Amino acid sequence: MSSRIGRMLSVQIFGESHGRAVGVTLDGLPAGLKLDMDKLNAFVQRRAARSAIATGRREADIPHILSGVWEDITTGQPLTAIFENGDTHSSSYDFLPDRPRPGHADYPAIMRSLGNDDLRGSGHHSGRLTLPYVFAGGVAMQLLETEGIRIAAHVESLHCGEHDIINWVDPDMDALFECHKRAVPTVDPAIGEAMYQHILDAKAKQDSVGGVVECVAVGVPAGLGAPFFEGVESVMANYLFSIPAVKGVEFGAGFTAAAMMGHGYNDPYAMKDGKVVTTRNNAGGLLGGLTTGMPIIARAAFRPTPSISQEQNTVSLSGKCDTTLKVHGRHDPCVVVRAVPVVESAVALALAELWLERRATYPISKRLEDL
Ligand SMILES: Cc1cc2nc3c(=O)[nH]c(=O)nc-3n(C[C@H](O)[C@H](O)[C@H](O)COP(=O)(O)O)c2cc1C
Repeated sequence: MSSRIGRMLSVQIFGESHGRAVGVTLDGLPAGLKLDMDKLNAFVQRRAARSAIATGRREADIPHILSGVWEDITTGQPLTAIFENGDTHSSSYDFLPDRPRPGHADYPAIMRSLGNDDLRGSGHHSGRLTLPYVFAGGVAMQLLETEGIRIAAHVESLHCGEHDIINWVDPDMDALFECHKRAVPTVDPAIGEAMYQHILDAKAKQDSVGGVVECVAVGVPAGLGAPFFEGVESVMANYLFSIPAVKGVEFGAGFTAAAMMGHGYNDPYAMKDGKVVTTRNNAGGLLGGLTTGMPIIARAAFRPTPSISQEQNTVSLSGKCDTTLKVHGRHDPCVVVRAVPVVESAVALALAELWLERRATYPISKRLEDL
């Protein structure tokens, strides 16, 4: 099922960018979770396009909860929420299905559906589908918070090359939450301002840029996950790679580990306040597919936005000939900024899945860290 993920907490995303609505059904949520709706709405709004470096499409992004919640408390039944699509300009996509956009999903989507897909606004392949994903992630985050797990991401780097560095052993979560108020969420405001300008410059050149979102999860108990196929990296990567435009996923030192030596990579253990910790965190909180209890550090690399208004080479599928295309709709010149809560959602949903799986084998009244 391409738009469904999770066994313990299944997440089914549905809808198209220019259809009536997009939405999500979450099945497997425990009953009795008190949802802070203001907090959930504020989280969803972090993904909205509200600035000069985002698409001009303006949507209210108000969730309509159809089931699974009664007086703000989860009932334990499937929770379905929808978001209406309002600000759609379908005529901007009149070049489809004839001239597929280079770098977008149009051509393979036409081939997969044999021409039956709704391609308006990129249909089911649109970044719009990350809205219900973020709603689901916000619910998962509130579930995890009951266990003391907190998740926050920032823009680690952009095409311009500067890096927003955080401490992987003892990340300053308050600084990370605070940075979400900025136009580009970086812990160092000067780096965020430079990134903002870089995105504006790309937009002025009718071009786009990509970058890296880094996400931290703290308070995760040691021992979640499983070896081999169901390791935390495998599970979490599935949620992260599901985000449109993600082309790479790393944990901890990630690809740089390949250039390190054992003594430099291995994270030494130490006792701190009666707990086992590591004095550095190249493993990103993960060993053998299991959580170590140290902060989980996950990074997702985003490609530059495919839809750009510079002239590009493409083909006419009806004419069976080469031609050109300028895409003139409203698009994000860089998806990275709006993707920060999407990455947090992917990490939250993956951890909720793993946590529910672990909890299923233990008495329900116990907290994992007490086991
Ligand atoms: C938050 C978000 C917003 C996006 N906005 C746009 C957009 O405005 N225009 C566009 O062409 N692609 C946008 N994308 C990316 C495309 O959906 C994606 O690149 C496309 O479906 C092709 O998939 P792929 O890049 O994963 O191969 C967005 C992605 C995300 C996560």
